[in-house]
Amino acid sequence: MRQKVIAGNWKMYKDLAETRELLGALVARTAEIPEGVTAVVCPPFTSLSVAAEMVRGSRIRLGAQNMSEHDEGAFTGEISWKMLKSAGCDFVILGHSERRQYYGETDESVNRKAKKALRAALQPILCVGETLKERESGVTDAIVGGQVRGVLEGLTAEEMNRLIIAYEPVWAIGTGRTATPAQAEAVHAMIRGIVRNLYGDAVSQSLVIQYGGSVKPDNSAELLSQNDIDGALVGGACLKADSFYQIIRSAK
Ligand code: 13P
Repeated sequence: MRQKVIAGNWKMYKDLAETRELLGALVARTAEIPEGVTAVVCPPFTSLSVAAEMVRGSRIRLGAQNMSEHDEGAFTGEISWKMLKSAGCDFVILGHSERRQYYGETDESVNRKAKKALRAALQPILCVGETLKERESGVTDAIVGGQVRGVLEGLTAEEMNRLIIAYEPVWAIGTGRTATPAQAEAVHAMIRGIVRNLYGDAVSQSLVIQYGGSVKPDNSAELLSQNDIDGALVGGACLKADSFYQIIRSAK
């Protein structure tokens, strides 16, 4: 049985006071996290160390939203794996479509970051997904398959056991338009098939593949009940304790 991993991507929301308020509410309710479900929050960099103190000793785990591919140096505005580790992170989202779209990230840069993160014992959440135009032109499998091969390039089977893939169709992010459970499941099964071809059955069977894109309390149970959907990467609905917990509970 694969763990279900529900991660909240806070994006560029929540200052320090708002971070304290939301995490206070989340930490108070961890008894609602079902057995076999891992709950992760990914606040902005500025909130990480406060968040780390607040989740310490609780069942909520901490992740970041991005990371530099370099160890250290003259890279103004960048954040290294070492900084994320010392701030208390266990996870890091890499290659989110917003980073690809607005900040020029590519499969190659995401792959380099993934290798750094894994060597630092940070668990990468590697994001892939097609645009609406790509879906409508029938190239979803080719695009997403290419991204999966690209971001995994050169990773070992042992490293594969320490990462998560998040399938986030770009057209479903922040649009309220979610993939149907069948549409999402088809892509998840395709991704697992690629991983099976590259790394064999055992690795592919233990890989956690999250779905992201307008996951809400009213659609999460059906999405999460699909065979190959092992969790969710939640944007808007993770910004309130109530809706985030409804999604977490629905993963059972
Ligand atoms: P929404 O849940 O707001 O659509 O965002 C999804 C997402 O991008 C999570 O990384």
